[in-house]
Amino acid sequence: MFKVLRTEGNARRGEFTCAHGTVQTPVFQNVGTQGAIKGAVSAQDLKELGCQIELSNTYHLHVRPGDQIVRAMGGLHKFMNWDGPILTDSGGFQVFSLSSLRRIKEEGVYFSSHVDGRKIFMGPEESMQIQSNLGSDIAMAFDECCENPSPYEYVKKSCERTTRWLYRCKAELDRLNSLPTTVNPQQMLFGINQGGTYDDLRIQHMKDIAQLDLPGYAIGGLAVGESTETMYHILDVVLPHAPADKPRYLMGVGTPSNIIEAVWRGVDFFDCVMPTRNARHGHLFTWDGIRNLNNAKYQLDDKPIDERCNCPVCRTYSRAYIRHLLKSGEMLGQRLTVMHNLWFYNNLMAEIRKALDEGRFAEFRAQWSDRLSQRI
Ligand code: GUN
Ligand code: ZN
Repeated sequence: MFKVLRTEGNARRGEFTCAHGTVQTPVFQNVGTQGAIKGAVSAQDLKELGCQIELSNTYHLHVRPGDQIVRAMGGLHKFMNWDGPILTDSGGFQVFSLSSLRRIKEEGVYFSSHVDGRKIFMGPEESMQIQSNLGSDIAMAFDECCENPSPYEYVKKSCERTTRWLYRCKAELDRLNSLPTTVNPQQMLFGINQGGTYDDLRIQHMKDIAQLDLPGYAIGGLAVGESTETMYHILDVVLPHAPADKPRYLMGVGTPSNIIEAVWRGVDFFDCVMPTRNARHGHLFTWDGIRNLNNAKYQLDDKPIDERCNCPVCRTYSRAYIRHLLKSGEMLGQRLTVMHNLWFYNNLMAEIRKALDEGRFAEFRAQWSDRLSQRI
């Protein structure tokens, strides 16, 4: 259930309710691909970092430990000890980005596991069965994500197949949700818009998937090779055709400035590996811009990562100490930097929501959008 509480231009302040609670939007989903946040951050830590919703991957958990094992352990919430909302990505994107030797057919995708090379088949039904076993709150549709740019005729055929797959996803999830032994019978299905960088394909595909009246719609196939300007253009073109009363989720995006710009255009949900991945390489997000802790100038710097940050790391540790931990390969270094970056992203979303609540998001965007992406 989604409620738009307030709007400013195309930007929306909302509230999304699912089986494991209510999420205030716009929201950033913290990425725990294999049921864990990289950098030794636990589900308890996530609560302290202001995380409202966690995201895991169908493909990874199917390959290891296996979704049957997660199901036998009571579902992903119990397994990883996170009682808040969980969204699972369908495997579509991971199959395309991780596996070599894949063959796409009408029935689904044949590919080899990135762990042991074992042959796997995944189609819409398999993806829904796996996500049903995981028991997430939101299951993503099984789609094909084409890299940008791809030839027009290829993207057109791919979109049409993704639409047919969506009907199969819905039929299968409806069936699974009605079984008496289902882990989470209230599991919802979000559709995914594709269409590459072609305005007409994007619009047609969004109109086609909107027909299914799903509880949410994602924009996929972006941040996969096109320029930032092109990505914003596609959002401008396609969002007016997304159902206004349903949440919109921009998959795999992005920098703080990408998020501000996408909220401005009407996006409600985000996820990205950037805060965790960049943290592990010493790249820290701050209200002054992006700080690279590998820089020698931090060797004797006793200030926190971000002087405006109130996170558990900035309240306790110096730049010099964290730099030393990263340089010496101490696990604590990764843990502390990931914690700061996740806090930063969750706090950024809280500040965006506050600006929307107070009707000053245009001002917020003008003040921060460019600033947060500068290197310092
Ligand atoms: N993550 C980032 N982009 C995509 C996409 O296009 N499809 C899916 N399923 N996941 C994504
Ligand atoms: Zn901090």
